[in-house]
Amino acid sequence: MTTAVVLVAAGSGSRLGSPFPKAFVSLEGKTLLQHCVERLGEWSRPHTVVLVVPEGWQEPARALLTSSPGARVVTGGATRTASVRAGLAALGEDTDVVLIHDAARVLMPLDVFDRVVEAVEAGAPGAIPHVLVVDTLVRISPETLITEGGPNRDELGGVQTPQGFVASKLIAAYEAVAGDFSDDAAVMREAGHDVVGVAGDVRGFKITYPEDLTRAASVLGASVTPLVGVAMDVHQFDENTPLRLAGLTWEGEKGLSGHSDGDVVLHAIVDAALQAARLGDLGEHFGVDRPEFAGADSSVFLSHALSLLHAQGLRVSSVGVQVIGNAPKIGPRRLEAQETLTALVGAPVALSATTTDGLGLTGRGEGVAAIATVVLSTT
Ligand code: CTP
Ligand code: MG
Repeated sequence: MTTAVVLVAAGSGSRLGSPFPKAFVSLEGKTLLQHCVERLGEWSRPHTVVLVVPEGWQEPARALLTSSPGARVVTGGATRTASVRAGLAALGEDTDVVLIHDAARVLMPLDVFDRVVEAVEAGAPGAIPHVLVVDTLVRISPETLITEGGPNRDELGGVQTPQGFVASKLIAAYEAVAGDFSDDAAVMREAGHDVVGVAGDVRGFKITYPEDLTRAASVLGASVTPLVGVAMDVHQFDENTPLRLAGLTWEGEKGLSGHSDGDVVLHAIVDAALQAARLGDLGEHFGVDRPEFAGADSSVFLSHALSLLHAQGLRVSSVGVQVIGNAPKIGPRRLEAQETLTALVGAPVALSATTTDGLGLTGRGEGVAAIATVVLSTT
């Protein structure tokens, strides 16, 4: 029988809160989609692949498929149901069995794919993997929590993907129904077909929230590798502005020029953190082309960068930062600055300072520089 896998990857990942569509979020150096495609590449059963991706993401998706003969990339829709429809429309005419799989389930073991296909080959119109529900279930409403009469969990299962179907039946079912469905089995049932269950696998959990990326990283065994970023920033003195440095205001000192408040210490930390997370750099996120950041308190950059990190399942575990310049004298306020930075970053920050023996722009007293190292770990 000819088998095709439709990998639906066109969702935005709103619950993950990432700046990229979820399938293009990085997990241990590879996008979620790349993890899925590579895993499928190891499947012993011959199959073709249809990738359903968001508008504008076709090229990076195609680049993943150079060694997958017959693979296709199509653009998804506003809902999962619409994306599956787009994927089904791209199936080869000779497809006997189609599996619909969420790209968000990157770690689903291949033996689940086998079980699903085998159930369809054995005569079921459709087969879905499910896992046991381990928590007691209750019915909840905004006003009350009803613990009595909750559904019996022994009769319930958590539904996963891949969901497999006789291709012609699933296509006809999607043609026969209207509206949105949370999975493909629901479409089949609506069209009057029976769908059987096979054993799923808890490792095939759906990456939905940032914590799920952490869980996936630790399953992949790579969470022990810290990510490191290093960055520097320099600003020139500007007598007409108050000095903001290391999150503090320095009365009676010359300020630093800049699009924002010119705090080179916070800028270096933010830049290094973005680099460590493979999220680009400070200029890309907060550059002069962003008028909303003119004169901004640099702690705003930091909190925005930290939320981007969090959406990637990452957090800052440690920071080292050095100020380079003749003035202000850091020593008397070093501990205060260190504590302020530690509170802003939410992780230990070590601060030190140096001069450059009268050499260079900081030595000539033209400005202040800072260099930061940031270490990230999974949340
Ligand atoms: N999906 C899709 N097209 C959509 C919505 C979802 O292809 N318009 C895909 C997702 O890419 C994902 C799968 O359907 O692989 C399951 O959806 P879900 O986990 O809900 O992903 P998102 O919709 O991207 O996330 P969220 O609901 O948090 O926005
Ligand atoms: Mg969704």
